[in-house]
Amino acid sequence: MGKIIWLLAGVVVPLILVKIAYAVSMVLVLPKTKGALFVSTSRRKIRAILEAVSMSPETRLVDLGCGDGRFLRAAWKRYQVRGVGYEINPWAYFLARAKNGLFRVPTEVRFRDFMKEDLSSYEVIFCYLFPDVLRELSPKLRQELRKGAIVISCNFPLPGWRPQKVIQEGDPIYIYQVS
Ligand SMILES: C[S@@+](CC[C@H](N)C(=O)[O-])C[C@H]1O[C@@H](n2cnc3c(N)ncnc32)[C@H](O)[C@@H]1O
Repeated sequence: MGKIIWLLAGVVVPLILVKIAYAVSMVLVLPKTKGALFVSTSRRKIRAILEAVSMSPETRLVDLGCGDGRFLRAAWKRYQVRGVGYEINPWAYFLARAKNGLFRVPTEVRFRDFMKEDLSSYEVIFCYLFPDVLRELSPKLRQELRKGAIVISCNFPLPGWRPQKVIQEGDPIYIYQVS
């Protein structure tokens, strides 16, 4: 009986709390994310992207909706680039901050809506967002980004943009360059 109580207190209850935190965070931000869930890009895809787009430590990199921040950490590991991530899901934001701390990665995570930010200074823009969000983001990027900036969109294309390259890694990864 004692063992069961310890199991409940130590494993089952924390797991349930994590599930609740995940669900509540998701529901809170659904109107902004237009149904997009906090789903992470696979490590295989991240590797393929970092292979295709090379960066330097000075590159201004951003992940629009960074989730748990894994893309930015992988970019730091490979290119020592200090990217910035925007995230409005409180659970994802918490995970990104916690994992950055745990792995001692100096990428920055901002608890903000990227649609309200000025994105003009970024040179490499990564996103894995739903088509409805991309429809709103597309004209903003066209207006703000400078010539030569690279946009990487996982799974879904940016409406109205012509990709420079499409990588097939399970799902397509679209790579654009602002001309
Ligand atoms: C499919 S997940 C991708 C996470 C991460 N980029 C990755 O590839 O692993 C999309 C994330 O974008 C976030 N998001 C959607 N719209 C946003 C907005 N306007 N501002 C900030 N974050 C947003 C969601 O909360 C979600 O965590």
